[in-house]
Amino acid sequence: MSESRKLYYTTSHGCPVMDPLASQRIGKHGPLLLQDSAMIDLLAHFDRERIPERVVHANGAGAFGEFELTNPIPDLTDAHFLTQKPGYKVKTLLRFSTVGGERGTSDCARDPRGFALRFYTEEGNCDWVMNNTPVFFIRDPSKFPVFIHTQKRNPQTNLKDATMFWDYLSSNQECINQVMILFSDRGTPDGFRKMDGWSGHTYKFTKRDGSWIYVQWVFKSRQGNHNMTNDQAAVCDPDYATADLFNAIERKDYPQWDAYVQTMTQEQADQFEHSVFDLTKFWPEDRYPPRKIGVLTLNKNPTNYFAEIEQAAFSPSHLVPGIEPSADPVLQSRLFSYPDTHRYRLGANYHQIPVNCPMNGYSPFHRDGAMRVDGNLGSQPNYPSTLFDIKYKTEGSASDPSQEEWSGKATLYQWGSELTDLDYVQANELWNEFGKTPKMQENFVYNVAVHLCNAERSVQEKTFGMFDKVNKLLGSKIRYETTRRGNKNSL
Ligand code: HEM
Repeated sequence: MSESRKLYYTTSHGCPVMDPLASQRIGKHGPLLLQDSAMIDLLAHFDRERIPERVVHANGAGAFGEFELTNPIPDLTDAHFLTQKPGYKVKTLLRFSTVGGERGTSDCARDPRGFALRFYTEEGNCDWVMNNTPVFFIRDPSKFPVFIHTQKRNPQTNLKDATMFWDYLSSNQECINQVMILFSDRGTPDGFRKMDGWSGHTYKFTKRDGSWIYVQWVFKSRQGNHNMTNDQAAVCDPDYATADLFNAIERKDYPQWDAYVQTMTQEQADQFEHSVFDLTKFWPEDRYPPRKIGVLTLNKNPTNYFAEIEQAAFSPSHLVPGIEPSADPVLQSRLFSYPDTHRYRLGANYHQIPVNCPMNGYSPFHRDGAMRVDGNLGSQPNYPSTLFDIKYKTEGSASDPSQEEWSGKATLYQWGSELTDLDYVQANELWNEFGKTPKMQENFVYNVAVHLCNAERSVQEKTFGMFDKVNKLLGSKIRYETTRRGNKNSL
């Protein structure tokens, strides 16, 4: 559209509107006319402005930037953007979020933070859809919807509900590592810039020769890790993190993260005391040292929030040759869930929305559908025509899974629900780790107690038992601090 076209108001079909505030009515005080299609056009579009918000991670903010490859890793993967010369840059988009709150709820809530990163690579979009913690609450994907229900609003009161929150967690104690992190002050980060991002899941790096290695990635903030206390977060401006990110980029104080990968061979994975497919466990850095690959910089705010951030559609299934999902069941389920929700939230042609459109285009076999706005790839054949020169990439990088533990087996197995003493070991290490930072253990106990005191007594008892298993002293401190506050039984 030319600049001169933008200078006057029109209807949505381009007809100039002389006075956008006037409406056609019968006389000075009479009813409106149905023929006033300019006003109807305006109202009808307004009536449809809202689209479904994300079912989780609805509240967030984002920005564009670039990833600079500083240390290529051709020994690990064939991924084009990770194997170029040092200094190679890829455009990126990063969206931060909270998880449980609706759009417009507080940026400062005690909640994990989403860290969804897109690389616009020459081989298509590569999305690393991460959180700010190395672990997650579940290792069994069928628990995700019910787990999320308990962290959202009570179906009757429409209020957040401490009883159902702790009832779920104390009944599914594989969540304990994530609970330890969430109720430390790391659960209330000071904005989006001062926290790290972790893949959490194990993925695979692959090469053309069929070789592969397990990998996790982590982005460490150059702004440091800074958190709020529970009481600071409780009174924080709800838009604090959104404003902090936007304003930093506006004043050219560009936030940066150093990117690393941790790897494990199958032999190392066999010796690891946890399954590499268990998302509730982390890979200790002293045993699996992070290897630096690059630097991420955010340097451009969106020019339109709705177009570029609300409509962004990240998915862990958006990978490029050289990077594959592992057999982690939660990751496997996410490969389905994200594109599925995008088709619902944004429509079948969501990949055409400019922020989602891969820079190398997409297949002419994806045709038609509601709201096709890109010319539908014109006269290109919609089948593999012998008359038209569409090339297939014949050589690719795919892993040889024959050495993997799961290879060849198909069984119905409920691994996620079995708990052993091993499930509490890393949580105990975290508790001891907290002891090295002044007030961190004390704050942890306080943060749990002020929340748990709102739950019903029987659920409190179950939760005390969970913390007892982590550490007896921790369990008794939480019992004492929670009980001392009395049972408030609502939030
Ligand atoms: C069974 C497990 C999970 C399921 C089914 C699931 C599903 C979803 C869905 C449906 C969305 C909304 C996406 C959209 O509307 O665009 C979402 C958002 C998100 N999820 Fe998950 N999720 C799971 C676990 C995880 C885990 C383990 C992580 C991190 C390691 C994660 C990180 C995120 C992030 C960062 C977003 C926001 C993406 C954005 O900014 O647009 N999720 N998830």
